[in-house]
Amino acid sequence: MKMISHTLLAGISFLLITNQALAADGQAILEKQCATCHNLNGPAPQTVQEIWNRQGPDLFYAGNKYLQLWLVEWLQKPYRIRPAGEFYGLHIRSTPKGDEIDTSTLQPHVALSREDAVAVADNLMQRHPHDDLIARETITPFNLSKQMGEMAFDKFLGCMACHLIEPDYGGLSGPELYTAGRRLQAKYMASYIRSPQAWDPKSWMPNKHVSDPNIQKLVQYLENLSAEKSDGKK
Ligand code: HEC
Ligand code: HEC
Repeated sequence: MKMISHTLLAGISFLLITNQALAADGQAILEKQCATCHNLNGPAPQTVQEIWNRQGPDLFYAGNKYLQLWLVEWLQKPYRIRPAGEFYGLHIRSTPKGDEIDTSTLQPHVALSREDAVAVADNLMQRHPHDDLIARETITPFNLSKQMGEMAFDKFLGCMACHLIEPDYGGLSGPELYTAGRRLQAKYMASYIRSPQAWDPKSWMPNKHVSDPNIQKLVQYLENLSAEKSDGKK
């Protein structure tokens, strides 16, 4: 009897150990495959020089920023979010017709297996040093016509100078925003619009001192844009 239970126990612990070794280790993947380009532990760049040298967006506040489901999907099938990469100054050429992206200098992003993507997303979501900024935001969904949203975004606040609101419509230096509602937490969007520099002291995005009602409008507009584009393309 004793013999059997020993053998059983040994068998079970062997299974447990091998199982653990097989499960993807998000932390190890991040350190090994991602840390060369992404800041995983903060702080954000403090000088323009550091921004210039940044090889990818900061991930140390990922848990305050992304929707986890999106992360898991994107890490398996990454698509371009910043039309001219990070940093755009290195990938935009001025031509007589206006700015053009030099796509030959843009690299595709590394893709992960499903298991690794799940483990990495789990780990990233545990990084949320800016809960204080998020706690200041309240989002109240409401009905907003596309026209009203576009007026605020484009005409009054000039956001379109830097952001795409359709695949080929808008500015090229910032991240595309027609997918923002699927990528980002609403409160993060509100907080970033309120004060880009609270997140990234040297962000190129200007603080436009947007009023609270306009912040609500812009977030609602971006949420609506993403819902509209849910045609399975991205
Ligand atoms: C060679 C540099 C490089 C490596 C290595 C790299 N990335 Fe990236 N990553 C980038 C760049 C550049 C972008 C911006 C892409 C864009 O905007 O189209 C990016 C974007 C991202 C984004 C979206 C960020 C956002 O806010 O838009 C996530 C999430 C991400 N990377 C995670 C990872 C993970 C996880 C790894 C490791 C498995 C990794 N990256 C490895 C350069 C890199
Ligand atoms: C001068 C260019 C510029 C203008 C004007 C601008 N932005 Fe930005 N915006 C940026 C850049 C650059 C980033 C951050 C890039 C990064 O994280 O790589 C950003 C980030 C954002 C983000 C977070 C997106 C993300 O993927 O992390 C939102 C939301 C946003 N902007 C909305 C707006 C709104 C709304 C306006 C108008 C009030 C606006 N922006 C005006 C350049 C600009």
